Amino acid sequence: MRPFLIAPSILSADFARLGEDVDAVLKAGADVVHFDVMDNHYVPNLTIGPMVCQALRNYGITAEIDVHLMVKPVDRIIPDFIDAGASIITFHPEASEHVDRTLQLIKEGGCKAGLVFNPATPLHYLDHVMDKLDVILLMSVNPGFGGQSFIPATLDKLRQVRERIDASGYDIRLEVDGGVKVDNIADIAAAGADMFVAGSAIFNQPDYKVVVDEMRAELAK
Ligand code: DX5
Ligand code: ZN
Repeated sequence: MRPFLIAPSILSADFARLGEDVDAVLKAGADVVHFDVMDNHYVPNLTIGPMVCQALRNYGITAEIDVHLMVKPVDRIIPDFIDAGASIITFHPEASEHVDRTLQLIKEGGCKAGLVFNPATPLHYLDHVMDKLDVILLMSVNPGFGGQSFIPATLDKLRQVRERIDASGYDIRLEVDGGVKVDNIADIAAAGADMFVAGSAIFNQPDYKVVVDEMRAELAK
């Protein structure tokens, strides 16, 4: 498996000083910026859009930005995120009218593409698109809010997806999002994940480096 990636969710960052906070978490050793986009329609919360992604690029953030779209419809906002400097764009298949078309739209724009599965979303959406995926993201909470508890059934789902990825032979990241903490990250990795989103676990601590280091130590066990 490839090296583990830690992706802080900026949902729990300080929006009043976002550039500085993102810079700090990257300097603390995080790998990827996880950027949660919520529309108060597909999910019951409202967050940030392409202008904020562009603002982070203008601020000088060069790390990969992993845009997690919790919006419906999805297609019309994708070109704006491509132009705003997104690196990875993931979306929920049930929020797209044409999943294959949406994946193509992302890939044609030069970004990595992925599907996101809510805790109760079945995996059959993977059936005909594995060749177009760079990332599969399993939600381990219901989308909409940070600070929720990890749903244990995700571990079995992770194992199933890990098997499918390995059997496919494709180079696909397995990302997990929601309730990831220092004390469960090792179990999540053992179930097959190789990319870990963590919002409150990192940003609610005064020293981000301490948490990132503790997560890496757990992952090295
Ligand atoms: C939830 C978001 C997550 C969330 C994770 O809808 O997709 O990225 O911010 O936050 P924590 O790590 O606090 O569960
Ligand atoms: Zn997310």
